[in-house]
Amino acid sequence: MSKLLEIDNIWKSFGGLTALADVSFSVEHKQIKSLIGPNGAGKTTLYNIITGFSVPTEGTVRFCGNRIDGLKPHIIAGKGIARTFQNVELFDNMTVIENVMMGCHVRTEAGLFSGAFRLPAAQTEKRAVVEKSLELLDFVNLKERAHEDSAGLPFGLQRYLEIARAMATEPKLLLLDEPASGLDTTESQALTELILKIRNRGIAVLLVEHNMEVAMEISDEIVVLNYGVNIAEGTPRQIQNNPEVVSAYLGDESYA
Ligand SMILES: Nc1ncnc2c1ncn2[C@@H]1O[C@H](COP(=O)(O)OP(=O)(O)O)[C@@H](O)[C@H]1O
Ligand SMILES: [Mg+2]
Repeated sequence: MSKLLEIDNIWKSFGGLTALADVSFSVEHKQIKSLIGPNGAGKTTLYNIITGFSVPTEGTVRFCGNRIDGLKPHIIAGKGIARTFQNVELFDNMTVIENVMMGCHVRTEAGLFSGAFRLPAAQTEKRAVVEKSLELLDFVNLKERAHEDSAGLPFGLQRYLEIARAMATEPKLLLLDEPASGLDTTESQALTELILKIRNRGIAVLLVEHNMEVAMEISDEIVVLNYGVNIAEGTPRQIQNNPEVVSAYLGDESYA
């Protein structure tokens, strides 16, 4: 069986700035892999390339054996890659459950909020979408708030809602971009448990995480990026004992 995600020799330049220089690594089915490195290392740029928000200058991205680099974001979402954003991006003028229903849209036939929903088949589909959305809200512990405005949720809970919306697209791979940033200790602990629960559903997770303890605790493998270069890859133990990583990062407060 092919690997789930294969990043091969990716380069990305913005004018004179090389954000990614020959980055290669892969993610296995059902794996939790963390991508770590200081601010500006190129982590978000790589997420944008994987999800079709940006096109690499050179190199290829394969998902389930097929090339996806250069495809449009909604096509890539349809193939089974979902993401959350470093700065939470919700539909602020919608309720909590409507945000999750928007995620379901990737897998439904009828336009969710269009007139087509008056047709009987569409009504059945809408009931299924509502049920699935409530189940996902339950999964992230937000079911009680389903009908509140999403903009009114505390920031930490908005991050959970964004994860529920991403899950609604039924991904095989979920990309989380600094999901713990802005969360307090209790919320971070709950997030760690949630990520493990997501993997237990058979979904692989690629995680940008600046909290080293969290990354070490939950990752099967870790990739270290530094100024766009992949300087190390391995199990948490291997990364912890890698001299280059230790001298470059561990114990360095600028770590992000
Ligand atoms: N759209 C863009 N235009 C120009 N430079 C960019 C753009 N996106 C990212 N960069 C630059 O690329 C580098 C990597 O950024 P980024 O991927 O956001 O890093 P990280 O997520 O690891 O903090 C940074 O120097 C950043 O300023
Ligand atoms: Mg970033």
